[in-house]
Amino acid sequence: MTKRGKSVRIEGITKHYGSARVLDDLSIDIAPGEFCTFLGASGSGKTTLLKVMVGFEPFESGRVSIDGRDMCDVPVERRNIGMVFQNYALFPHMNVGANIGFGLEVRGMAKAAIARRVDDALAQVGLAGLAERPPAELSGGQQQRVALARALVIDPDILVMDEPLGALDKNLRHAIQLQLKQLHRALSLTIVYVTHDQDEALHLSDRIAIMDGGRIVQQGTPREVYFKPRTPFVATFLGECNIWNDAAGPLALRPEHVAVAKAEGASGPGVAVVEAVIFLGGGQKIVARDGDRQVTAIIPFPVGAPELQIGERIRYSYDDCSVHRFD
Ligand SMILES: Nc1ncnc2c1ncn2[C@@H]1O[C@H](COP(=O)(O)OP(=O)(O)OP(=O)(O)O)[C@@H](O)[C@H]1O
Ligand SMILES: [Mg+2]
Repeated sequence: MTKRGKSVRIEGITKHYGSARVLDDLSIDIAPGEFCTFLGASGSGKTTLLKVMVGFEPFESGRVSIDGRDMCDVPVERRNIGMVFQNYALFPHMNVGANIGFGLEVRGMAKAAIARRVDDALAQVGLAGLAERPPAELSGGQQQRVALARALVIDPDILVMDEPLGALDKNLRHAIQLQLKQLHRALSLTIVYVTHDQDEALHLSDRIAIMDGGRIVQQGTPREVYFKPRTPFVATFLGECNIWNDAAGPLALRPEHVAVAKAEGASGPGVAVVEAVIFLGGGQKIVARDGDRQVTAIIPFPVGAPELQIGERIRYSYDDCSVHRFD
């Protein structure tokens, strides 16, 4: 029995809150089984878009379809979408098992069947045996995984997640990201994901859609969006980027593509003065100034050589093929 996630089609959605246009003629097609991430600044409309997709929010124009079927007269609970929201609030008065089983109980499933499904869902998120615990006796990461189990237990066609890992520390976030990726593959789920975290978006997604002011300004694979940003906004939103102007317009260059060498006493084009040296653990970030051009470089530590100092002159260089010009 192979199950596969369903497609989601968003066509020309416009939504206002009062007089503010929050979604502006927004369209996107999400393929069955795809992991699609929406990335955008606070207030760009990500949560609103998810609510529209799931059926929590009305909208003025446009259409949401799942596997080709218009959802306009299909209520939330009939869309078979699992949801994990930003504040993963579990019901505090119910134990973990009851929290997870709640959606099945509402659907009228028999108790024994619910217990089986709950155990399966707990095992899927690595929490087997915790069904009896009250949520207050779980760590934040465990609570988050209970919320994930609660979304998975209904055997959803689509999993919608809004900043699900935002409150977790980095190690835990990475562990759950890995789990999520494995679940995505194992269950062939369609996942619609929202995050503020660029690295998370790059690691997890088949496709990233960058939102700004209620619109999708660019979408593509993580590589496409990272290496071929269409605008300076996208370039600087997804990772750090040098944006320099020349006669032909703005050009983008990733800091990891900038090489730096000490250049004591040198001057002229290609020479900059170091303004900051930032320790990154795996390397270092150098911020320097060449006239009105700010130069950011991410470079390895100099093995056996002295570190760069603020005020020191450097020569910076890059391969022309690393430079990205906007269309
Ligand atoms: N219920 C509401 N009533 C009125 N305005 C709202 C409501 N919900 C959201 N908004 C406004 O709509 C805009 C988009 O909000 P939304 O929650 O979709 O943003 P977001 O991209 O999810 O932001 P964040 O990253 O901070 O979660 C914001 O300007 C917000 O203030
Ligand atoms: Mg939001």
